[in-house]
Amino acid sequence: MKELDNYIESNRERFLGELKEFLSIPSISNEEDHKNDVRKAAEWLSAELTRIGMENVKIFETEGHPIVYADYLKAGNKPTALIYGHYDVQPVDPVELWTDPPFTPVVKDGNIYARGSADDKGQIFMHVKSLEAHLKINKGLPINIKVIFEGEEEIGSVNLDKFISKNKDLLKSDYVVISDTSMYDKGLPSICFGLRGLCYMQIDVTGPNRDLHSGTYGGGVDNPINALANIITKLKDKDGRITIDGFYDDVVNLSKKEREEFARLPFDEKKYMKDLDVNGLFGEKGYTTIERVSARPTLDCNGIWGGYQGQGAKTVLPSVAGAKISMRLVPNQNPDKIAQLFEKYISKIAPDSVKVKVTALHGGKPSVTAIDTPAIKAAVKALKDAFGVEPVYFKEGGSIPIVNTFKEELGADAILLGFGLPDDNIHSPNEKFDLDNFYKGISTIAYYYDELSKI
Ligand code: BES
Ligand code: ZN
Repeated sequence: MKELDNYIESNRERFLGELKEFLSIPSISNEEDHKNDVRKAAEWLSAELTRIGMENVKIFETEGHPIVYADYLKAGNKPTALIYGHYDVQPVDPVELWTDPPFTPVVKDGNIYARGSADDKGQIFMHVKSLEAHLKINKGLPINIKVIFEGEEEIGSVNLDKFISKNKDLLKSDYVVISDTSMYDKGLPSICFGLRGLCYMQIDVTGPNRDLHSGTYGGGVDNPINALANIITKLKDKDGRITIDGFYDDVVNLSKKEREEFARLPFDEKKYMKDLDVNGLFGEKGYTTIERVSARPTLDCNGIWGGYQGQGAKTVLPSVAGAKISMRLVPNQNPDKIAQLFEKYISKIAPDSVKVKVTALHGGKPSVTAIDTPAIKAAVKALKDAFGVEPVYFKEGGSIPIVNTFKEELGADAILLGFGLPDDNIHSPNEKFDLDNFYKGISTIAYYYDELSKI
């Protein structure tokens, strides 16, 4: 352990330099213009995995972005861990709100700022550096390791999903280790034992066959924006309950014990409000904020469009309007079933005066990891050794749909060892990653491989 620590300590600057290089590649997966950059990030990673001594390093082509694979399987009958992460990033809009350009990494106040720094390039790079430290110091790895990094997590992991089903032997492993979540708070190492699922829908509303003068036609035909706004307001009631028929049918209610555990987590509502600069909070009545953001389902409008949005005023009754709506799901909700219920409800409430089209964009199932397992106990030990503090257990409100695929297809549980922080601005301008967490994370992961070898 000491030698690993010394190695990490004496290579801090080089690790940071390499991380900056990786973060400079604009691997935005949902923008066609960045297709080549996504590939560049895959190639950068595979070169790095080769350089540190991993074996069978391969780039697998898919119908979308490539999948990077590597392994090192020389630990005999020791367990096999599959390390999963994603090297694609979210778009940078609104780019004008970034203090520094998103793909020019800058270090300030102990943080590195760049798109993908926390989600998830910085976090997968920690795994690469932990592997490097072991391979350099111990001339091998304490367990068998397989690595799989994808370039499509932010757009639904559709091709990785197919890849897993077709390559079960290649990916067969005892555990999946993922660093793509956050710690509960700074200085408070955490084990995430649940993620929400997702059901992402689009509504397109069409009114008249062309934009109309709002004076000549206003009052005569329905306005698609007004119609859409009415539909959206009917999706939740004033208590924050989702009104879609059957939406809660499969929800597993929180147990008394779970609620007690949530209540024990440190949470300062005033600070939370101040950080976000909001005057009040809103969510489903009868549940605490922590429960609402992690263990209860939600519905949010992610984007809305229609009509005139330029400068000043233009009198127009628009022809079309639309919205993107996501629902975060909890056990045992099924995204396909929820998509059907959503569609049915929309057709029930939509007025006849406009045409309404509902499309399911993508979805993913929620997941939960049992915490009373040797692999989780090993993670607790590694976190404690690196951070000097007992970790807390909590659930994240975000989604990593592939976690469920790993369980269903490979039978492997995911250990979610995340090192982001709640204020890392993932998916927002000025995304950052705390450098203390970066270095302590590298140590934690290096210790974790050792701990897993003792199981
Ligand atoms: N890293 C996040 C998942 C996450 C977010 C975990 C917040 C914990 C807290 C991941 O990259 C992500 O953003 N996932 C998407 C899923 C989707 C596009 C299918 C999400 O949660 O919106
Ligand atoms: Zn992520």
